[in-house]
Amino acid sequence: MESVESLKAEIRNLLKKRHAILLAHNYQRSEVQDVADFSGDSLELSIRASRTDAEVILFCGVHFMAETASILCPDKKVILPVAGAGCPMADMISAHELREKKKEMPGAVVISYVNTTAEVKAESDLCCTSANAVQVANAVDPSRPILMVPDRNLARYTIKHTERRISYWEGYCPIHENLHAEQVMRVKAAHPEALFLAHPECRPEVLELADEVRSTSGMIAYAGESSAREFIIGTETGLLYPLAGANPDKRFYPADPHMVCPDMKKTGLKEILEALETLRPEVKVPEGIRDKAKRAVDRMLGVGKG
Ligand code: 13P
Ligand code: SF4
Repeated sequence: MESVESLKAEIRNLLKKRHAILLAHNYQRSEVQDVADFSGDSLELSIRASRTDAEVILFCGVHFMAETASILCPDKKVILPVAGAGCPMADMISAHELREKKKEMPGAVVISYVNTTAEVKAESDLCCTSANAVQVANAVDPSRPILMVPDRNLARYTIKHTERRISYWEGYCPIHENLHAEQVMRVKAAHPEALFLAHPECRPEVLELADEVRSTSGMIAYAGESSAREFIIGTETGLLYPLAGANPDKRFYPADPHMVCPDMKKTGLKEILEALETLRPEVKVPEGIRDKAKRAVDRMLGVGKG
């Protein structure tokens, strides 16, 4: 059996040969983050994908993330090592369902969370991520109502921080939805000095308990800047690895050790190596959908740039 280190070395060699860049989400397995050129949150990964001059983007994350890379870089080969790595929340709304909902809300501006299919993005006016949902909502003409899809928790969090009129779809992330306030209270009682950092995909009553609500990379940045030494982390447990790596002198406790996204864990070094050898499975968004979806992603990337 090949050792982890020799697999990593083979992957790095092949990445060079293929003129490929390996992008990994912050929830990926530690060995995958180790071998990546860049690890980050959804917004950072989209930005990296849009700026790379590599010929191949090997995306270690879930399907909608690879699709976003394909939307932004039609001339590049985008590879998702495990084709079946999906996001149950993204599957909670289809383009057909969104079209029907839009008929009920003529004049509404649709903001789709990046955790959606390319088809849903193509039906949307703007995209957002957990890092910029409030800024994106604030960039909308105040006279127009907003429909946010599919995450009700991100939408309710946004409603609390903007004056805009927002309706939302009743989708959710099963992993974040499973974190309950009682569980957070128990962990807080065990670590009374720790600050509680939560992801906006958590339930409203969990976010009420948070000292700070941030995207995954936002949590890494916050923990680095904070003078606190201990943190309870209310998101998928994969984030503990980059958090601890960036802050070796601080301590991090999962709000619930059961917060594991099975799809984010499907990709391992063997799958990456095979994907690099075969340059498959490829994710390619068809042109008629891509151009429409790109408008929504580009508008998001433009927010904050004035
Ligand atoms: P981030 O964009 O904050 O990394 O979140 C992505 C995600 O899938 C959260 O569950
Ligand atoms: Fe989707 Fe939740 Fe997994 Fe993120 S953690 S990829 S939102 S299922």
